[in-house]
Amino acid sequence: MTSRPHGGRLINRVVSGRRRELLLEEAKELTKITLNRDWATDLVNIAGGVFSPLEGFMVQEELMGVLYDMRLPSDLPWTIPIVLDVSPEEISGVEEGDDVALVSESGLILGLLHVEEIYGYDKKEFAERVFKTRDANHPGVARTYAMKELLVGGKIDLLNEPENKFYKYTLYPAETRVLFREKGWRTIVGFQTRNAPHLGHEYIQKTALAFVDGLFINPLIGKKKKGDFKDEVILAAYEALIKNYYPKNSVVMAILRTWMRYAGPREAIFHAIIRKNFGCTHFIVGRDHAGVGNYYGPYEAQEIFSEFPDLGITPLFFREFFYCKKCGGIVNERICPHSQEYRIVFSGTKIREMLMRGERPPDYMMRPEVADVILKWDNPFVE
Ligand code: ADX
Repeated sequence: MTSRPHGGRLINRVVSGRRRELLLEEAKELTKITLNRDWATDLVNIAGGVFSPLEGFMVQEELMGVLYDMRLPSDLPWTIPIVLDVSPEEISGVEEGDDVALVSESGLILGLLHVEEIYGYDKKEFAERVFKTRDANHPGVARTYAMKELLVGGKIDLLNEPENKFYKYTLYPAETRVLFREKGWRTIVGFQTRNAPHLGHEYIQKTALAFVDGLFINPLIGKKKKGDFKDEVILAAYEALIKNYYPKNSVVMAILRTWMRYAGPREAIFHAIIRKNFGCTHFIVGRDHAGVGNYYGPYEAQEIFSEFPDLGITPLFFREFFYCKKCGGIVNERICPHSQEYRIVFSGTKIREMLMRGERPPDYMMRPEVADVILKWDNPFVE
């Protein structure tokens, strides 16, 4: 009894067989637009139903709905723009109604875009709406400012998958749904992460898992900022954690191929919608979900859910977990009566510093098996 996909049905725009061959032939003659690695994953996510109900890159009406109302024109919640930026040169000669070919950086034809609209946009306004700031020090804002001048919207078709180093960890929503069903899970909690797991992460997952049938660990694999863990490190660290500390039949891990926007509250809603499409009934939102620096309040990513009673997936909110010396365990302010002096918070910076020095963080912060896996890398962090 997985949850219904966002919008009611899973989108499938993966073309196969004879039609694929015909479209590949047609694509050779078309104007080509190169997608970088991240935009290529957006294409795959649209085609494979991860971003259901989107069937393509957003046209202006959709973008405006998302920026100003956090909803698609159909009134469905949607908080993050999924747009394709192009330069006037790249798109010159292309008219609305034409098809263009979408190619990877290595020149592989990935798919087609049926151009519905080519339009301009205001980057500062875009940034302000999505990230709640125009500050170019914010990594999502910087990325927005680096986008090209125009946007091109329209439905897509996927003809070839881009290269995927993590194929063995990749599942489409249609597949996770079958898997969850086969396991007999009726309630499934999704967990978003961009980090190697510390004990705080483990405790939120296990607290949630105490109330549902299955846990879907869904690390985000793709562009992150300097100092975040490398993708392969996150996956190896989770392998070690699951093997040593999780009951086998309660957990599935697969990757989410996308890039971090660091849009805090808006990204939390986006993350929840994606996990709904994968079949989750519940979604974990802890402290400063998808946040960066001090741009968002620690629980803003939880508060925003009150604006979406119609989301169709139940958020599970957690106050910050920390280690309390007096309790002798991992707790949070809802269950620990002791004062600050006993508390050790899970500071990403502190953990990173220890690992960089080649030290294992203490056992109450990170499982030794997880730390040992990470320490095998000369530099486990994005440079
Ligand atoms: S995120 O950018 O993907 O949100 P991270 O991988 O660190 O970063 O967090 C994954 C999830 O765990 C998020 O929901 C986040 O709020 C939550 N989380 C991380 N650390 C803690 C903690 N110490 N206490 C409570 N929740 C946490």
